[in-house]
Amino acid sequence: MSSEPMLKVSGLNAFYGRAHILFDVGLEVGRGEVVALMGRNGAGKSTTMKAVMGLLPRCQGEVRFRGTDIGSLPPYRISRMGMGFVPEDRRVFSDLTVMENLDTGRQPPREGAPQWTPEKLFRLFPNLGEMPKRPGGHMSGGEQQMLTVSRTLMGNPYLVLLDEPSEGVAPVIVEQMANMILELKREGLSILLSEQNLHFAELVSDRAYVLEKGQIRFSGTIGELAKNETVRHAYLSV
Ligand SMILES: Nc1ncnc2c1ncn2[C@@H]1O[C@H](COP(=O)(O)OP(=O)(O)OP(=O)(O)O)[C@@H](O)[C@H]1O
Ligand SMILES: [Mg+2]
Repeated sequence: MSSEPMLKVSGLNAFYGRAHILFDVGLEVGRGEVVALMGRNGAGKSTTMKAVMGLLPRCQGEVRFRGTDIGSLPPYRISRMGMGFVPEDRRVFSDLTVMENLDTGRQPPREGAPQWTPEKLFRLFPNLGEMPKRPGGHMSGGEQQMLTVSRTLMGNPYLVLLDEPSEGVAPVIVEQMANMILELKREGLSILLSEQNLHFAELVSDRAYVLEKGQIRFSGTIGELAKNETVRHAYLSV
């Protein structure tokens, strides 16, 4: 096993057509770490995650996952290496039940990564455990959010990219999401989450990066960010 970090991104540039969106983005997620990628709407958080996951047609730079250069690999290969991604549109299969949705995410266990079963996920998300046969289309937004996270965990990943887990869900679900992330961390999972909400990021993260206009403007511990009024006022909405 290599001692390289879980994820190391350097000199990442990304484009949509001719529009240059990310400029030399660099970031790291250590093993077992929860790292927040912060910034306002349009800062480039989702673009960074898509680029890491191999989903952008045009990007340059280096992306290393557990010591392997994954920069030129297609998304399905990256997924099979143990990187999970929960995109911001969090789609569930609306005609499939909770249990069937979970089945679509199944991958073999991986040495050194936490292992998941529906039973273990239902302990993490008791709401889902109460509706294993409900079709995805008949669930609330918060329940669908829990289902997409759970489906990704069924792949037994080492690292999960969570795009704005607290966005657009009720406060009680936000609290459950925070507890869930802390529980995943206790299980040893590494997490990169994108977030606009500093309060949420403070509850769950070890470190943070702040993006603005596709550039990293700040990197430090979450405590350092919370104390840094200049950065908060300039690049976050607090
Ligand atoms: N498919 C696309 N085609 C062209 N431009 C895009 C596309 N997706 C995003 N952009 C642009 O790229 C920039 C970064 O967008 P991105 O979605 O990464 O931001 P974000 O930080 O995730 O914002 P949000 O908090 O709203 O999700 C924005 O200027 C956005 O308008
Ligand atoms: Mg986004």
